Amino acid sequence: MQQIPTIAELRERLAMAGTVAFVPTMGNLHEGHIDLVRQARAHADCVVVSIFVNPLQFGPSEDFDKYPRTLDADCAKLEGLADVVFAPAVNEMYPQQQTIFVEPPPIANELCGAARPGHFRGMATVVLKLLNIVRPQVALFGKKDFQQLHIIRQMVAQLNLPIHIIGGETVRAVDGLALSSRNQYLSVAERAEATFLRQTLSNVRQSILDGAKDYAKVEAAAVAALAGHGWPVEYVSVRNRETLIQAGRADRKLVVLAAARLGVTRLIDNLEIDI
Ligand code: PAJ
Repeated sequence: MQQIPTIAELRERLAMAGTVAFVPTMGNLHEGHIDLVRQARAHADCVVVSIFVNPLQFGPSEDFDKYPRTLDADCAKLEGLADVVFAPAVNEMYPQQQTIFVEPPPIANELCGAARPGHFRGMATVVLKLLNIVRPQVALFGKKDFQQLHIIRQMVAQLNLPIHIIGGETVRAVDGLALSSRNQYLSVAERAEATFLRQTLSNVRQSILDGAKDYAKVEAAAVAALAGHGWPVEYVSVRNRETLIQAGRADRKLVVLAAARLGVTRLIDNLEIDI
């Protein structure tokens, strides 16, 4: 496995590498990332992982400076799984001020985008840059970040990028908590409580499978349950899985998404529902 910090060296390395499958990450890798890397192997000759904490997608009061950077440990985890780790410095990705952006669709202002203005614009912009740098045939993203995956699929379709996007299932701890680099911000007590988010989403799913059709009421009950446990809730929302528009009675492929805080840590999760 080769660690490469510059675009020029990466292009040279990939020139004769055959087909490429690409997993973009911000590092601090856990089994959720590693699962995507393992899947990537089945799709191409060469597996490329990028590790880049993208300043463009963090708000001014968010955790960009604090975000865990663990490049050596990440590379050790990728040994034998990836062929190339692209780990550029901020100056390599943004040698001049970025004044051209990907303008994501209006859905980027809802759900996670409501509390994180500009987040999806910064995310989509760096993903497009990375796709242009790596030029993969296949790129893999986790369903854990369901809205992110949706926006990337829209970008690839609407900008005619010749890339096949694959969505990987959410990898969870044994107690059900979705793995996330941000889980390490949790105290021991918070870590135990954290499973309540997924449990609340499971209850939403059960209510809907039991026939509940008033989704606003189901969402409000979930918000109340979380608030009752002391979680400040950003949203709990039942959506059409394909469009991410608020689900209506006719929709059968649903997803319930949620974001809430536990202490200083913002957690997100989602569950798919088929009725
Ligand atoms: P990051 O949070 O590091 O996640 C990298 C990829 O791993 C994303 O596709 C994410 O959805 C996936 N992932 C994270 N946790 C997962 C889990 N528990 N199960 C399955 N997949 C999981 O998402 C980003 O970085 C950035 O926004 C990025 C796309 C790299 C652009 O900067």
